[in-house]
Amino acid sequence: MSAKVIDGKRIAQEIREEVRQETEKLKAQGIVPGLAVVLVGGDPASAVYVGSKEKTCLEMGFHSEVHRLPEDTTEEQLLELVDSLNQNEKVHGILVQLPLPKHIQEKSVIDAIAVEKDVDGFSPQSTGNLVIGDESLLPCTPAGIIELIKRTGTEISGKHAVVIGRSNIVGKPVAMLLLRENATVTVCHSRTANMERIAAEADILVVAIGKPKAIDSRYVKPGAVVIDVGVNRLDTGKLAGDVDYDDCSAKASAITPVPGGVGPMTIAMLMQNTLKAAKLKAGV
Ligand code: GUN
Repeated sequence: MSAKVIDGKRIAQEIREEVRQETEKLKAQGIVPGLAVVLVGGDPASAVYVGSKEKTCLEMGFHSEVHRLPEDTTEEQLLELVDSLNQNEKVHGILVQLPLPKHIQEKSVIDAIAVEKDVDGFSPQSTGNLVIGDESLLPCTPAGIIELIKRTGTEISGKHAVVIGRSNIVGKPVAMLLLRENATVTVCHSRTANMERIAAEADILVVAIGKPKAIDSRYVKPGAVVIDVGVNRLDTGKLAGDVDYDDCSAKASAITPVPGGVGPMTIAMLMQNTLKAAKLKAGV
């Protein structure tokens, strides 16, 4: 038996279409969701990501602004820009593309974004709201993972979910979201003893460690749903996930491919967050 392939490209397209339609209705009421993206320096991968965010915003019918700043921008200049975007009525979401050049403290910049405009959901206040269960903008990749699981028809409540990886941008927030969905959650990491045994008890296995094909079928319980967050460039130039797809797809009931699984969900959820921020601001 081969696992069902979880088609992130199709699900992301569905979400973008929902956001586009809802934006059309909001615009009829005079509300135009707006996203500002800030890119500092010339990192080629970041430039590609920012370009796709800009393109998707325009497809949604959003107000879109991209601020491309030189590599030698000072932290003070960047903080001034963030402050002006915090005040800007046309802007409902602010995303500062990471990584930032080394002379700028990422933490200072993320902390400066107004919580109601924090569409990345990276700030301490957004993180705190997530943990408490208060209304907040959710980090895009973790929120996208929950959507993938739900839209595949998998019930999360009561299941054992194992998350491998404890980063602030994926592992920790996805664990909190799974808990909020009433899963029983175990978080594994580089110091975990008996990881293989623990992972093999998971009904839902989420892997975000950044090591190509590190997780093979020994870590997978028969019939598990496997979500692979890794995007690793191999020496051959091909992309590979953190999960050995061919080996695990024989044992799982559903699995995300790389590319085309979790990846496309991130921008779709960013669009959904910007729409949500605009609605919260307008009180609709
Ligand atoms: N760089 C890579 N992924 C992301 C992301 O989701 N948000 C931001 N701000 N920067 C990134």
